[in-house]
Amino acid sequence: MRLLVCGGAGFIGSAFVRVRLVEHGDEVVVLDKLTYAGRRENLDGLDVALIEAGIEDAAAVARAMEGVDAVVNFAAETHVDRSIAQPDAFVTTHAVGTWVLLEEARRRAVRFVQISTDEVYGSIAQGSFTEHSPLAPSSPYSATKAGADLLVASYFHTYALETVICRGSNNYGPRQYPEKLIPLMVLNALAADRLPVYGDGMQVRNWLHVDDFARAIGVALAHGRPGEAYNVGGPDECPNLQVVQRILELTGRDESLIEYVTDRPGHDRRYSLGSQKIAALGWEAQVRFADGLAQTVAWYVDNAWWWEPIRSGDYRAYYQRQYGRALG
Ligand code: NAD
Ligand code: TYD
Repeated sequence: MRLLVCGGAGFIGSAFVRVRLVEHGDEVVVLDKLTYAGRRENLDGLDVALIEAGIEDAAAVARAMEGVDAVVNFAAETHVDRSIAQPDAFVTTHAVGTWVLLEEARRRAVRFVQISTDEVYGSIAQGSFTEHSPLAPSSPYSATKAGADLLVASYFHTYALETVICRGSNNYGPRQYPEKLIPLMVLNALAADRLPVYGDGMQVRNWLHVDDFARAIGVALAHGRPGEAYNVGGPDECPNLQVVQRILELTGRDESLIEYVTDRPGHDRRYSLGSQKIAALGWEAQVRFADGLAQTVAWYVDNAWWWEPIRSGDYRAYYQRQYGRALG
């Protein structure tokens, strides 16, 4: 297959590209704006063509889609805290960008896979969301992602474009930008910096290894029914505080580094996805959270070359804005 992977220089997109090249022998074109989160290094050693452009750039999208069999769209602004501080780019990329991609896909009648998130359903106290659960997003991040999902669905209903939506739960693994919980806590623990836990730390996330998500997306790409959405949840859920405690153990630090800070506004308490529908297509998670977390910590320990330029670059300004007051 010849695939256009939008946002393929990011955390999950690059894991997906790796799986497609190694396990499927696909030909891959990556279209990526290379924002703070997109990195050429994520594609090191992979034989891909990289086009540096935004998905909202119609001319670049038209060129990139030439001759492809399918489009998989990961391109997004992905951090909830940044969406709370400054939602602008979330609206542009998720609403306008997704629409530009859909228009070109419609013109060429190309199969379109949209990568979405459990956060479009909002918070759930007990049980798990199904694909029929109503969308009830809480943050500008999840609201704009939900908007993108609805646009995608409209192109199926209105124009009969072959669309599939994949909604993943919280991913973790190598190459995740250290604004997210797990890499942030790992790098802070390694540096013996304080670990900022929001609120009481009892919020629950459903952890999915990035390679499991990448393979699920491959299954949806090959076998997903047009017009359908597929939830992809991880095999284990865990309260944030327990995740942080485990990271402290794995890095040989003690709990005195934990600092409880003011909670995130509108913070979703728990996410949980039922994955029966994607399982019926033949997908199953391979990585349990305990093993995957230990492997992920080991990856960050062994790959300082990857994160040191981030920690000493723009990320410092972001960290100061986000945590400076709370952590003094
Ligand atoms: P990421 O922030 O690591 O990567 C996003 C990528 O998109 C980067 O390479 C960035 O440069 C690129 N990008 C951003 N705006 C763009 C634009 N306008 N045009 C082209 N490229 C642009 O994010 P990620 O964690 O890899 O997430 C990828 C996708 O998976 C997103 O759509 C996200 O909503 C979804 N998702 C993420 C998670 C998670 O836990 N990280 C869970 C479920 C779903
Ligand atoms: P995050 O990685 O931002 O993912 P999401 O908000 O998309 O689930 O956060 C995961 C959980 O960790 C969430 O409940 C917020 C919490 N969290 C902290 O307690 N402290 C932090 O510094 C960060 C970044 C997140």
